[in-house]
Amino acid sequence: MYLRNVSGIIAITALLGMKGQPMKGIGVIVSKIFLVLQSILRKLGFKLQLIRISRGSGDNSSQDECYEIISPLSSYAPWLTDRPFKEVFGIIENFSLVDEYRCYELWQLVAESKKSHGALLEVGVWRGGTGALIAKKAEMEGIREMVYLCDTFKGVVKAGENDSKYSGGEHANTSRVLVEELLNKKLQVSNVTILEGIFPEENQHKIAADQFRFCHIDVDVYQSAKDIFEWVWPKMSMNGIIVFDDYGSSGCDGITKFVNEEWERNDRITFYNLNGHAVIIKISKF
Ligand SMILES: C[S@@+](CC[C@H](N)C(=O)[O-])C[C@H]1O[C@@H](n2cnc3c(N)ncnc32)[C@H](O)[C@@H]1O
Repeated sequence: MYLRNVSGIIAITALLGMKGQPMKGIGVIVSKIFLVLQSILRKLGFKLQLIRISRGSGDNSSQDECYEIISPLSSYAPWLTDRPFKEVFGIIENFSLVDEYRCYELWQLVAESKKSHGALLEVGVWRGGTGALIAKKAEMEGIREMVYLCDTFKGVVKAGENDSKYSGGEHANTSRVLVEELLNKKLQVSNVTILEGIFPEENQHKIAADQFRFCHIDVDVYQSAKDIFEWVWPKMSMNGIIVFDDYGSSGCDGITKFVNEEWERNDRITFYNLNGHAVIIKISKF
């Protein structure tokens, strides 16, 4: 058990080995101590969280055993004082499933993509939140190339045996009109082409660009992520950046599996940001 204090939030992580069984003996005593502590700390203005973590076997033999709630120790939070970001995030947050930490990373990486060249692509737009944020930041950075935003607008496709929580059709509660309103009326961006349909097979021919600097893949399942990645990777410019949303999320194990399969290749640097992104940067053509 350890105790830590991050910006006034105290988290206790208990390694009690509980796997859903009713607590007894020492478990009951710890739970009572926890409740008393919780109430005292609440009066002092702190929040106490109990987070159960998996002990795992340590041999990575089963993906189920390599999951735990991650709560990073750092407390530097530039999104709190970045005024342009705050303004844009304030507009898009109700149109997105993606949290502020990941949105801020997209925001920063679009700026970093100025060190590369080509168009920008997002597959997995839903109501347009992250796509609009990417387009606005690209415009603000003076990037002139097109931002392509692709979605079926009918929900997730290609769910399969690698995806334990998806069956297809999730996130269909959106429309192209909703996304257009966000882009044109609320954010007033003019650098976007919306592509409707399953990417890449149904709409790749509508893309004029042959090089990309940035790609955000937020499609939740293995086969879609794979098809999109295999389409865009040869077109990525040097230093081009691909961000996979939901890497590490237990609900999107297909994404984690796909990125892990790709990890070892020499033409890229891949890293896991604990916010739930995997980021791949192209460093070589071969
Ligand atoms: C989690 S949502 C995207 C969330 C969005 N980025 C946001 O800001 O909240 C996933 C989306 O991916 C779309 N999608 C999944 N596979 C796709 C594919 N191959 N082509 C186009 N859209 C796809 C689904 O229709 C769904 O809207």
